[in-house]
Amino acid sequence: MCGIVGYVGKQDAIPLLIDGLKRLEYRGYDSAGVAVLDSAGLSLRKAVGRLSALEDILHLTPLGGRPGIGHTRWATHGPPTEANAHPHTDDSGRLAVVHNGIIENYKELREELEKKGHRFSSQTDTEVIPHLIAQELKDGAPDTLTALRNALSRARGAYAVGVLSADEPNTVFAARHGSPLIVGIGSGEYYIASDVPAILSRIREVIYLNDGEIAALRTDGVNVYTLAGQRVQPEIHAVTLQAEAAERAGFETYMLKEIHEQPRVLRNLIEKHSDLSDEFELSANYFRKLNRIMIVACGTAYHAGMYGRLLLEHFTGLAVETDLASEFRYRDPKIDPGTLLIPVSQSGETADTLAGIRMARNWGCKVLSICNVPGSSVVRESDAVLFTEAGPEIGVASTKAYTAQQMAFALLALHIARARGTLNESEIAQCLTDLRKVPDAIHLVISRKETIRAIAGKHHDGPSSLYLGRKFNYPTALEGALKNKEISYQHAEGYAAGEMKHGPIALINEYLPVVCICTQTRDEVYDKMISNMKEVEARHGRIIAVATEGDTLVKEIAGDIIYVPAIRDEFSPIVNVVALQLLAYYAAQARGTDIDKPRNLAKSVTVE
Ligand code: M6R
Repeated sequence: MCGIVGYVGKQDAIPLLIDGLKRLEYRGYDSAGVAVLDSAGLSLRKAVGRLSALEDILHLTPLGGRPGIGHTRWATHGPPTEANAHPHTDDSGRLAVVHNGIIENYKELREELEKKGHRFSSQTDTEVIPHLIAQELKDGAPDTLTALRNALSRARGAYAVGVLSADEPNTVFAARHGSPLIVGIGSGEYYIASDVPAILSRIREVIYLNDGEIAALRTDGVNVYTLAGQRVQPEIHAVTLQAEAAERAGFETYMLKEIHEQPRVLRNLIEKHSDLSDEFELSANYFRKLNRIMIVACGTAYHAGMYGRLLLEHFTGLAVETDLASEFRYRDPKIDPGTLLIPVSQSGETADTLAGIRMARNWGCKVLSICNVPGSSVVRESDAVLFTEAGPEIGVASTKAYTAQQMAFALLALHIARARGTLNESEIAQCLTDLRKVPDAIHLVISRKETIRAIAGKHHDGPSSLYLGRKFNYPTALEGALKNKEISYQHAEGYAAGEMKHGPIALINEYLPVVCICTQTRDEVYDKMISNMKEVEARHGRIIAVATEGDTLVKEIAGDIIYVPAIRDEFSPIVNVVALQLLAYYAAQARGTDIDKPRNLAKSVTVE
């Protein structure tokens, strides 16, 4: 949800800002802009649309200078126009601000400032910030830092901001409250960015700013303060990610690269936790006494949470509930300190998920998050973290983070089952042996991508598709449908197969692709799934089945079939979903969409 980058150092800022923005474009791509200090004072360029439009403008009317700030926007207040693109300035044009988040009281602030003579030129909430800073300076604030502190004390809502002032050469100011922002330390140069991968190749150390902190980056160092003006000693972390982790590595898209990374990611995750001795910072005794688990998440992470619920119930006997974080925050759930909250999030910055964490903490619950991004807000607000260790996920459609979340739930469920004695040691050992088969099975599915591409080629052109699954693979159906609609823009609906006859069966005709996940080998839902497929067949639906290798019964019913290796039922969703990721991928490719940056979406949803 908007990407921010800033640079202080001896080099020309523009190429560095553009490079950072390219890596942040997944956060929003409605418009983009940059501001630098140069001989004219403060100079800006903005463009509507993708970053390439800004590059074209910079080509026609070049800009050079330092320091600088840049922004790529995902519109909230006001449509994507040049006027609404960031950076925003005050009336004097000596202050420029980039912002990610929402200033909730911007209307009243704007009215107040307009009465004082400030003239606004955009519809954004952001524009109040430069005007507020200017007003604070007019009212006697001794410097930009103080004016920024005072201005932000008046803002309600969430922000990460970068500020440039023509009166403070060699300085970029940064502040965060509820939206992500990091300070990167290179050799003799400093950066701000919405995430580490944006500036990975240029920095060696990172400061994760805390909510309510302001940083002043100057050519000779970084100082961090609280909003009240107290100096704080920031924790400096070494950057451990390899720069290649954020590159496309020869793949045509990040999404395809990330699909291919899944076997390695999952292998590493299993090996890291497979002795189950890691207590995820919560003791075995805590897990023994626990009486309930509440999982909250959004989007794909919610589907991982649905799968996690099924596994946890199955292996630990605990009462488990999963809810959409955006709904959870407005419920009155009966939660007490005996409940463990498990938020699931790739980015660790999803506003609704964070709200769920804060609610649960108020009720005295412990929070064990499943998260991919170190230093993110979810991580920092949790008592314990199970990192998914998937590495940077740049494609807007989540793939490797999802299967890593599923794997994390499998490992956690086994850990809790051991602590509570609901599985014995030999059952746990068998589960781990079966889990270890998952990465190779995924590898095999990926090796069949040409078959999947051919199937996608036959069915991508209709207006809609239906995805059916049961039990462990019901969330797989939901996730397969989400992937398809998200990147191919074909309407897709995931349904519990048993519910089909209660409504969606009316949709079935010879044009409707119906993706049926039917890999269960040894539990009762296999036969039920076959009956559901028969019902689709009887109405001439186009069945695309995901089935276990050698399953000839499914082959007789399905028009198209994607075979996956046999995997224990409980863990089959981690493999099956990869077939659906590829199916969506090739449908999107056939439909000519921008796969890594689907329309209207942003990778990290930091607003409610
Ligand atoms: O960063 P998070 O995992 O908290 O994000 C949650 C959702 O916004 C995310 O999964 C979204 O649904 C993806 N675009 C799905 O591919």
